[in-house]
Amino acid sequence: MPTSQSTVQLINHLDRDYLRHALEHDVRTGLTATPKWLPPKWFYDEAGSDLFSRITRLPEYYPTRRELAILRARAGELAAASGADTLVELGSGTSEKTVLLLDALTAAGTLRAYTPVDVDAVTLAAASERLTGRYPGLAVQAVCADFERHLGLLPRTGRRMVAFLGGTIGNLDPDAREVFLKEVRDGLRPGDTFLLGADLVKDRGRLVAAYDDAAGVTAAFNRNVLRVLNRQLAAAFDPDAFEHVALYDERNDWIEMRLRASRAMRVPIDALGLVVDFAEGEEMRTEISAKFRPDGLRGELAAAGFTVRHWHTDPAGDFALLLAEA
Ligand code: AVJ
Repeated sequence: MPTSQSTVQLINHLDRDYLRHALEHDVRTGLTATPKWLPPKWFYDEAGSDLFSRITRLPEYYPTRRELAILRARAGELAAASGADTLVELGSGTSEKTVLLLDALTAAGTLRAYTPVDVDAVTLAAASERLTGRYPGLAVQAVCADFERHLGLLPRTGRRMVAFLGGTIGNLDPDAREVFLKEVRDGLRPGDTFLLGADLVKDRGRLVAAYDDAAGVTAAFNRNVLRVLNRQLAAAFDPDAFEHVALYDERNDWIEMRLRASRAMRVPIDALGLVVDFAEGEEMRTEISAKFRPDGLRGELAAAGFTVRHWHTDPAGDFALLLAEA
């Protein structure tokens, strides 16, 4: 057997039924609550993923560029410090930034396996194929799973580095974050590492602009969740009748995205046998994106059983990339 042959394996923990039930449950729960809300994970159908890619290239949306700059400068040092032979990436998406980590772990001479974890099987398969071409000998074990529910099903062997990039941790509220960080820690052995990208508290004008861009791409991304509901649940939302709202909540240190009904509406969601009423001006929350203070984040990691070994920010101090040891 040629040892340079890379292999791809895809394990799917999210069958159609699972996704369907999760969506139905989330929509029923969120749209019958006061105030109404929807979890951000349902933004990412194909159109939503494309819109998010466009967001990452907007002049106002700094996080992606900042994190990339830190990774470019520090991937080698972080890879060497981790000694990891297995990279597990939560919410891997198109695995664009991953290449920097895989290159660094290859240069460090330790890399053997890569496990991308994402809710979208199509994105996962495409990213896996692309990467095997580039890294001969790499065992790609892709896992289609929800990182809030299936951490227990991830690889349990090897010296692991779990990467969670992009600031996606900000989508979790403080209680969910506490549970999530403990679960990540529980899946690791002492010496394994957690590489976390987190957006930092900064001037509110820049924060709001990053989520309310002049070209309206974030507004389209926000409204896209209504199209997902229309298609998946036979709902009858008129996306154009909802305004995009982005505000910064200084008390909680998070950006909140909302959709505001521009008129009173009665929206049937046929697949749920549900009719949802909106008053004129009523706002429904579609995402929180928490921003972190260094001491607060270190404290949360310590409470979960991690020790922060490396903490890097970009020169402007906008974004943090940290390596914590279990
Ligand atoms: C993918 C969750 C990191 O919170 O900045 C971008 C999503 N929402 N613009 C973020 C998002 C609106 C993004 N994360």
